[in-house]
Amino acid sequence: MMDIDGYRQDTPGCAHRMHFNNAGASLMPEPVIKAMQQYLEQESITGGYETAELRAAEIMGFYTSTADLLNCRSQNIAFTSSATAAFNIALSSVPFKPGDVILFANEDYSSNQIAFLSLQKRFGVQLVRIDSLPEGGLDIADFRRKVAQYRPRLVSISHIPTNTGLVQPAAAIGAICRKEGILYLLDACQSVGQLPIDVAAIGCDFMSVTMRKFLRGPRGAGFLYVADHILQQNYEPLFIDMRGGNWTQANEYEPRNDAKRFEEWELPYTLVAGSKAAIDYALKVGVNHIEKRNQQLCSWVKEGLAGIEGVSVLDKGAVLSSIISAKIPDTEPRAMLEGLRQRGINTSLMFRNSALIDFERKNTDWALRVSPHYFNTREEVDLLVKSIAELKG
Ligand SMILES: Cc1ncc(COP(=O)(O)O)c(C=O)c1O
Repeated sequence: MMDIDGYRQDTPGCAHRMHFNNAGASLMPEPVIKAMQQYLEQESITGGYETAELRAAEIMGFYTSTADLLNCRSQNIAFTSSATAAFNIALSSVPFKPGDVILFANEDYSSNQIAFLSLQKRFGVQLVRIDSLPEGGLDIADFRRKVAQYRPRLVSISHIPTNTGLVQPAAAIGAICRKEGILYLLDACQSVGQLPIDVAAIGCDFMSVTMRKFLRGPRGAGFLYVADHILQQNYEPLFIDMRGGNWTQANEYEPRNDAKRFEEWELPYTLVAGSKAAIDYALKVGVNHIEKRNQQLCSWVKEGLAGIEGVSVLDKGAVLSSIISAKIPDTEPRAMLEGLRQRGINTSLMFRNSALIDFERKNTDWALRVSPHYFNTREEVDLLVKSIAELKG
């Protein structure tokens, strides 16, 4: 049994807004807010370096809690400022040569696609996309074919894209990458916190995550998972600093053994404390429960949207998650967003440039993104649906 009332009482924002923008940034619960307030207060009284020493155990707790969440060891986790920062620092550790192939999906996150295009421009890597299935999601048979044909240097997938609830088959991709010895970078920005994630079962080498979305942590925080064998093979960020490496001789440095090799020396410790509290909160609620509750909320939202004339749900795929994208004809997107906000309802807009290939196939320029999380209620869903029906053109 989930204590929905209790989770709502823990969440100050619930008294003010109906928050359906958890794929943007969720509402932080009280323990997260308190952890950061207390940390900041102590820093302001005691000093930044001194507080970091005094609270070393709590800071270390971020790594152990994250490891508990993902089924790995604390040594596999690096704190970063965002999912994109985690993704890019992992990418920077791959010594690409001209002609190396990066194999990825049409539905992958826009910043990841831009990063690949930038690598193509600078290093001459070859970019190959996996075909999509007509019913949604990447085609695993095409993936197998392209792995055999191109022997990619790197495979990268967004587990759940930003603009749709589609869940890509991350573990099936991982099994093939492991068998073929191919590097696998998973963008799990939208999945950690709403789905149980086990990095050992998925078999990824790197995984990038943000704190502010379904994990309900602070903005400006994220992390990178790095597998043991990657650490042993001496992958290191292009701009490794004195956190990641030790300057041992005038012309030598030694990378550290754990994933902190991928961190920067300067960390926002207040956010690390808030992130630890957010992960502990997710563990307490239970991600299995969260997944089930979110499925229930999503089915209510979809049922409601299906009852509004002209509105269609765009999400396609064998497995769907807690992101719903709706096409609303004859409606000005900003007017819809603002109209909902005036009624106390938070949602978000997705435009073509956030999902160029996917939206072209779905023949839409924009979609309203509704992303419920477990603390939302049936009453909130009903009000959301009623408001969309009233505000549509
Ligand atoms: C699928 C996906 N990947 C990566 C990101 C980037 O996350 P961040 O803004 O924390 O860098 C997002 C953000 O919306 C996302 O939806």
